[in-house]
Amino acid sequence: MNPAVPQPGRVVRRRQDTADTVTIELTGAGQPLPAFQPGQFAMLTAYGVGDVPISISGIEGARPTHTIRAVGAVTRALCAARPGDLIGVRGPFGIGWDLDAAAGHDVLVVAGGIGLAPLRPVVERLLADRASYRKVSVLVGARQPAELLYPDDLARWSAQAQILTVVDRPADGWTGPVGLVTTVIPAAAVDPATSVAYLCGPELMMRFTAQALISRGVPAEQVQVSLERCMRCGVGWCGHCQLGPLLICRDGPVVPYPVAEPLLSTREL
Ligand SMILES: Cc1cc2nc3c(=O)[nH]c(=O)nc-3n(C[C@H](O)[C@H](O)[C@H](O)COP(=O)(O)OP(=O)(O)OC[C@H]3O[C@@H](n4cnc5c(N)ncnc54)[C@H](O)[C@@H]3O)c2cc1C
Ligand code: FES
Repeated sequence: MNPAVPQPGRVVRRRQDTADTVTIELTGAGQPLPAFQPGQFAMLTAYGVGDVPISISGIEGARPTHTIRAVGAVTRALCAARPGDLIGVRGPFGIGWDLDAAAGHDVLVVAGGIGLAPLRPVVERLLADRASYRKVSVLVGARQPAELLYPDDLARWSAQAQILTVVDRPADGWTGPVGLVTTVIPAAAVDPATSVAYLCGPELMMRFTAQALISRGVPAEQVQVSLERCMRCGVGWCGHCQLGPLLICRDGPVVPYPVAEPLLSTREL
């Protein structure tokens, strides 16, 4: 496959998750779509509009899913796609989560907002092979209850893992904790010293969360974060996604926190 040429994928299912977020399930139109690993991303093309990097949010079976928040022209066009519509797919790109690192360990999965999308396949993998891991805690922060993604999955996961949800702004009926996702770290059932942590969300959230975990005893090199930068080629050719010495499309998006830490305050050009 030429990584510069999008392969056609057909939308077979579309679910409106929240007011501005949609999950689409794709199937190969002509040939099967490639297999993705948790944490990897595709460049999705809205034909006639443009292409953007979007993580894989589900990889069970032959049909990948992507969860997309409409923030601009391309993501709005992708969110508007209906069953039967064609979308271009390039990928898989990037280095995903190192799940081998978690075998035999306690596991912390910490997501902020749409950051739960690339972590959803992590939780599914952990729970599909539950005996290989010790305690698993999934901490999810959202701006408000209506923005919490995958409520059905959260309920299903709670049979096998500790699920802690927290919102910045409560609404009527919300009885859970209020604040940033760091608020619920002390309630996580895991032993920090033996934990591996997977973090995805806004950079500030990842920085504060990583610092909080490390100060509680999680070894810094056991903390993995997923970085976001503007992408064009997705394969290390164009330089758009450069962050310090890294090309995020090729060397990331998932990197160990000690690699990300000195780069996290770097603004995008
Ligand atoms: C590796 C990687 C994986 C990603 N995975 C996902 C994913 O699974 N789901 C998803 O929805 N997005 C994901 N993104 C972000 C997504 O690529 C951007 O939201 C998208 O490129 C915006 O393109 P646009 O043309 O729609 O908006 P633009 O016209 O580029 O931007 C519109 C406005 O939104 C702002 N904006 C851009 N990106 C974001 C953002 N992420 N959040 C808030 N505001 C933003 C811009 O600053 C601008 O003001 C990922 C990005 C990377 C690098
Ligand atoms: S997007 Fe082109 S080098 Fe990373």
